[in-house]
Amino acid sequence: MDRYLRSLMMFIGVALLFPTVSESMVRHYNFSVVMKNVTKLCGTKSIVTINGKFPGPTLYAREDDNMVVRVVNHVQYNVTLHWHGVRQLRTCWADGPAYITQCPIQPGQNYVYNFTITGQRGTLLWHAHITWLRATLHGAIVILPKRGTPYPFPKPDKEKIIVLGEWWKADTEAVLNQAIQTGLPPNVSDAHTMNGHPGPVPNCSSQGYTLHVESGKTYLLRIINAAVNDELFFQMAEHNLTVVEVDASYTKPINTDSIFIGPGQTTNALLTAHKSSGKYLIAISPFMDAPVGLDNSTSTGTLVYSGTTLSSPTVSMAIPPLNATPVEFSFIDSLRSLNSKEYPANVPLTIDHSLFFTISVGVNPCSTCVNGTRLVAALNNVSFVMPNISILEAHYHNIGGVYTDDFPGYPPIPFNYTGTGPSNIQTMNGTRVYRLPFNSTVQIVLQGTSIIAPENHPTHLHGFNFFAVGKGLGNFDPVKDPFKFNLVDPVERNTIGVPTGGWTAIRFWADNPGVWFLHCHLEVHTTWGLKMAFIVENGKGPNESLLPPPGDFPKC
Ligand code: C2O
Repeated sequence: MDRYLRSLMMFIGVALLFPTVSESMVRHYNFSVVMKNVTKLCGTKSIVTINGKFPGPTLYAREDDNMVVRVVNHVQYNVTLHWHGVRQLRTCWADGPAYITQCPIQPGQNYVYNFTITGQRGTLLWHAHITWLRATLHGAIVILPKRGTPYPFPKPDKEKIIVLGEWWKADTEAVLNQAIQTGLPPNVSDAHTMNGHPGPVPNCSSQGYTLHVESGKTYLLRIINAAVNDELFFQMAEHNLTVVEVDASYTKPINTDSIFIGPGQTTNALLTAHKSSGKYLIAISPFMDAPVGLDNSTSTGTLVYSGTTLSSPTVSMAIPPLNATPVEFSFIDSLRSLNSKEYPANVPLTIDHSLFFTISVGVNPCSTCVNGTRLVAALNNVSFVMPNISILEAHYHNIGGVYTDDFPGYPPIPFNYTGTGPSNIQTMNGTRVYRLPFNSTVQIVLQGTSIIAPENHPTHLHGFNFFAVGKGLGNFDPVKDPFKFNLVDPVERNTIGVPTGGWTAIRFWADNPGVWFLHCHLEVHTTWGLKMAFIVENGKGPNESLLPPPGDFPKC
């Protein structure tokens, strides 16, 4: 045998014996943005997809892998993709929100999103980040732990991905455009979906999603809420779930019969198939504890044990009512970081930038709108206006006139936030950012307000995980409430609900240079201006600085 071949065989032998020596890898994905005719709710429409799939393809990675996703835009819309929850250390150029970090990929153009997954493992999602295209452009990101590193919970026999979505019979871009023109709330969706299936609805008997299980086995469910505007409860008849991770951060295990999940959030939960056979209902139902209209339909699927006869009846359960605030609270209040030796909760204990952001939905005058007014939304009374080129480019190349760095750290006029609102509820418009030095520690108290109507806001921060250190109803009390903060094992996530008529306090380390979007993940509120951005400056030396833009970076 020739020497080369012999050493090659020896290398392979060693690699098989010691799989842990293998290094991280580069994973290439081709994402073709194409139209596809899809039939749901007994109607067919053409939707924007990746590679013709809805939900879109799953990105698989292992911690430390380098992801190279080549996106080619074959549709008539401008497109960007966002890797929701991926920290994008020094690679803000690959983050994806249109006009925040990049100009869109125009029809006929392409762009390679190149980023490395560092210090994260679990489930996240990717989605379009321009107009309402994420209604159909979304999919799962599965990040496995490093080779040889076990899960910090009993190893499941199998894993299943469950992507929750929202379906409109109409074209979602038309729904958005109509709302923008009229100034009125957009039409609500017609159904919720599980892995693309709405399940049976009145007048259309479609088959729902089926989760096949074998008796005695355990399953890791990777549940993703990719809906556009609706927060959801997820339940299974006679089967509790054990939550072990949210937003790609391990949690202390919690046993529950209902999972609460807002748009942009992900939850990993263990399911034990403890029955011998049978069919059990799976339901997703919306949550709304404010007088705000939404798609109040429940969608169902079925958990089916192998060996169950076709004719056997499906076991059902009680579904939480629309306004089940106690069910929501008991779920979110029970979540804690795992905070183990391997996965410590590194909560900032001293704060450099203490911020207070009010969240409001209001009305501004609009002469061309139906009522002479348009619905708007704001943080600290600023409705964010999208610039014409990305803030990241303006920041990196020192281009003036794109944004101002005077986003207020406090509401311009304090008022009784959750009491009777002020008489003048008009907002200011602006493309205003808040500047943070590298590695500063930040606390934001997100304060809901009762302007128009108090409402729950799942708020998402790009580029960071934060710790949810406190939550309460009414107005935040800066003297008393900080004493109740959990600084030991608060849950770590990238998207958190601000309770209706209450507040949530989050903390994070600004250890990632770039421009990072903060917004409500209800797309209707983002559209209305409930968004702002942080600029995190470079630190010392190349390891603490933003990389240069890639050569194929899209131009406006
Ligand atoms: Cu999942 Cu800025 O978004």
